[in-house]
Amino acid sequence: WMLFEDDIEAILRLKREKNAVILAHNYQTPEIFHGVADIVGDSLALARKAVEVEADVIVLAGVHFMAETAKLLNPGKTVLIPDMGAGCSLADSITPEDIALLRAAHPGVPVVTYVNTSAAVKAASDICCTSGNAKQVVESLGVDKVLMLPDEYLAQNVAQQTDVELIAWKGHCEVHELFTPQDVRSMREAYPGVTVLAHPECPPEVVAEADFSGSTAVMSDFVGDKKPARVLLLTECSMSDNVAVNHPDVEFVRPCNLCPHMKKISLANIRTALETGQHEVTIDPAVADDARRAVERMLAV
Ligand code: 13P
Ligand code: SF4
Repeated sequence: WMLFEDDIEAILRLKREKNAVILAHNYQTPEIFHGVADIVGDSLALARKAVEVEADVIVLAGVHFMAETAKLLNPGKTVLIPDMGAGCSLADSITPEDIALLRAAHPGVPVVTYVNTSAAVKAASDICCTSGNAKQVVESLGVDKVLMLPDEYLAQNVAQQTDVELIAWKGHCEVHELFTPQDVRSMREAYPGVTVLAHPECPPEVVAEADFSGSTAVMSDFVGDKKPARVLLLTECSMSDNVAVNHPDVEFVRPCNLCPHMKKISLANIRTALETGQHEVTIDPAVADDARRAVERMLAV
């Protein structure tokens, strides 16, 4: 922790000087999550909290689509992301042109897009969802068929919980697609009694082997509520590190996969972002209103 002291002190001072807050996703490293963040959570919580920020500057310690969502929901604020290259394989898997083709192939079928998409893709959709509210969003539309884009596995996992027919796309999270059912079986053998929680971006065969599935915030709440003796979170590596800090009595089995995009954010580049005002996230005015409508419609569900 002493290694981080200088950056943490500087960031805390800069936040006061610049009237800034740091929103950090659950996959940020512990020195960010526990050391400098003002607001932490899953994608849904970060979106909800972004609306309420009164400070002048929001530093988004997470990936680009999260910073865009914050800017859409609170457009008067300066939103900074410490590294513009912090992307997401799901966001990269689909374009507005793809959505236009899907709409032509499925006339009248509403489009639900995961928040892990660009603002331009959000603008081309009817409503957004996160892994924390996907089922409720799909069912809020009152129809029997929905295009659910772009995460094929999230769509397949939600399809298990609803009667609505979900037409999926072929996008995958490069982190969660790596888990296999065999990983779960091996871990259960090596760690008897372990409770296995899987993020819904994992393939459905993996979720089927798990005891429970939910968004990062839902997994964190599960550990707090149920206090399993041993737990395995099938998700990004920092998640267990962050949750474990608050639960010293729970044993965390830690095979995990790193998200190279989330890991582009560091204390050093958060400090630089606050010092220099870079990199500012802006939304193309041609898509901003429609993208905002899709996200706000989700928050109203
Ligand atoms: P959550 O909304 O569950 O935090 O997920 C975001 C994400 O990027 C998962 O890979
Ligand atoms: Fe995207 Fe997967 Fe990384 Fe989340 S973990 S930001 S879904 S690549």
